[in-house]
Amino acid sequence: MRIDIVSAVPQLLEPVLNASILGRAQESGRVEIVVHNLHDYGIKKFRQIDDTPFGGGAGMILRCEPVFECVEKLQAERSYDEILYMTPDGARLDQATANALSLKRSLIILAGHYKGVDQRIRDLLVTREISIGDYVLTGGELPALVIADAIVRLLPGAISDAESALSDSFQNDLLDCPHYTKPADFRGHQVPEILLSGNHAAIETWRQEQALSKTRARRPDLLRKEESK
Ligand code: ADE
Repeated sequence: MRIDIVSAVPQLLEPVLNASILGRAQESGRVEIVVHNLHDYGIKKFRQIDDTPFGGGAGMILRCEPVFECVEKLQAERSYDEILYMTPDGARLDQATANALSLKRSLIILAGHYKGVDQRIRDLLVTREISIGDYVLTGGELPALVIADAIVRLLPGAISDAESALSDSFQNDLLDCPHYTKPADFRGHQVPEILLSGNHAAIETWRQEQALSKTRARRPDLLRKEESK
């Protein structure tokens, strides 16, 4: 899989992309992630990438030219399945979207700009607009990292235990069950007896019950979603 991230602040992206599971997934060739600095496509003498909004108002708007030039250069090299634009007014990111995107061959992720981007970028280039939640961040770089992480960890072999991605919270519209590791007694707080029993069927039943009761308590909307399927 190939992911191109287009950003005005690439320095925010590199350290996260090069560490841990995202870094290893690139080293092992499961994914190629390439970051593009919009300033390299800026216009005129000062390599300008944004401008004041027509009609007045505060804030700067990302101009069309740098984004089109960067994206069209990429499209001349390969075809892309989707061009994602990270924006708080997009569709809310969920596990089903991450699953679907992890099956694509090539994606461009456009990290938005503080105030916004020229609407023609959204109308003419972007295929999907995604929000990571109902709050506003200073730019689309952190959301771009969030979605890249959510996608890459689903690629086969990206996380060592193949089962663990499938048993995540949200994969069955259920939150994850509690997990414990050694020691069995930490300052007098015991691990649930059942987990030490060696009875794998009973442990599985316990885990499912725990997942269900946590989901009922914290996210009953997920259960209603499951019922209405
Ligand atoms: N850019 C700023 N805030 C955002 C959010 N919540 N989701 C996606 N992109 C954003």
